[in-house]
Amino acid sequence: MKNYKLAIVGATGVVGQMVLKVLEEKKLPISEYVLFASSKSAGKKVSFMNKEYEVQELKEDSFDSHIDFAIFSAGGDTAKKYAPIAAEKGTIVIDNSNAFRMDKDVPLVVPEVNPEEIKKHHNIISNPNCSTIQAVACLKPLDDKYNIKRIVYSTYQAVSGAGSKGIHDLENGIINYLTKENYKLEKFNYPIFNNCIPHIDVFLENGYTKEEQKMINETRKILKKPDLKITATTVRVPVFNSHSESINIEFEKSFDLNELKQTLKDSPSLKIIDDISNNKYPLATSATGHDDVLIGRIRRDYSVISGVNLWVVADNIRKGAASNAVQILEHLI
Ligand code: A2P
Repeated sequence: MKNYKLAIVGATGVVGQMVLKVLEEKKLPISEYVLFASSKSAGKKVSFMNKEYEVQELKEDSFDSHIDFAIFSAGGDTAKKYAPIAAEKGTIVIDNSNAFRMDKDVPLVVPEVNPEEIKKHHNIISNPNCSTIQAVACLKPLDDKYNIKRIVYSTYQAVSGAGSKGIHDLENGIINYLTKENYKLEKFNYPIFNNCIPHIDVFLENGYTKEEQKMINETRKILKKPDLKITATTVRVPVFNSHSESINIEFEKSFDLNELKQTLKDSPSLKIIDDISNNKYPLATSATGHDDVLIGRIRRDYSVISGVNLWVVADNIRKGAASNAVQILEHLI
């Protein structure tokens, strides 16, 4: 076994915990792990790979003794401060945050879509936004074949995407509904239980949310189509885990619907669940716990010359974050 050393930054968070789980499943040639979080978690014990690890506080000197790779899942501010320090010390950072995704020198990678970008890194590689990852996994094979002209995204995003505070808001909302026990919102502006909130991340001057703009910009970067016409509405829904997306696509070329379905079937990591006569279509509860991107409700958009509608569901914490980061790590190794 090679002597790779891996740091997991944000090891106590929702994504960090999933990174540990995916690493346990994958059994990569890594002999040493270091778990970092904020000062609040320093000294906390985490069991991982049949061993007990003590969480360390992330500090400026944390990367002084050589660490080969680091998976960061600790938010944009932590990444902005510590990822350049790690990169400077020779650690290859895979960052789950928004901090570097649109930087020219930082590859933005979904391994099934653009693995060739990985080797262009300068010690920092970005994991795309969770809602972008599952979308581009479906879009890439279709773009290769039919040349995408325009995309309309509408998302239905789970609270786990907002971290542990988002999960608490839904849990506490359910308890409040049943017991009338008062609670304080930790993450959202409004109760997420019994609501759909059309507001993820901050509002921008153009009236879009940052989440919507991320989907637009990241899709263009990953598909290498800087002028692709895209619009998006991203909505937080009272679902614990797995994001659902309606994706409307218009193509330059014409297509045969059966052939389009076959193209999706033939793509790695995509799974078609599309049997409306038996009421079978992708659900958040079916996607949770797996890395597959589920696609269903595949139907022609009759309002344009060449268009299709897809319903796309994936585990946002696994494929949308942790598993994608670990897949990038596998490629690096
Ligand atoms: P901690 O648990 O000590 O706050 P989530 O969004 O699911 O709550 O996870 C966020 C993760 O990022 C947690 O592991 C959290 O650690 C970590 N984190 C937040 N701020 C920092 C920081 N300044 N330095 C290191 N880790 C941080």
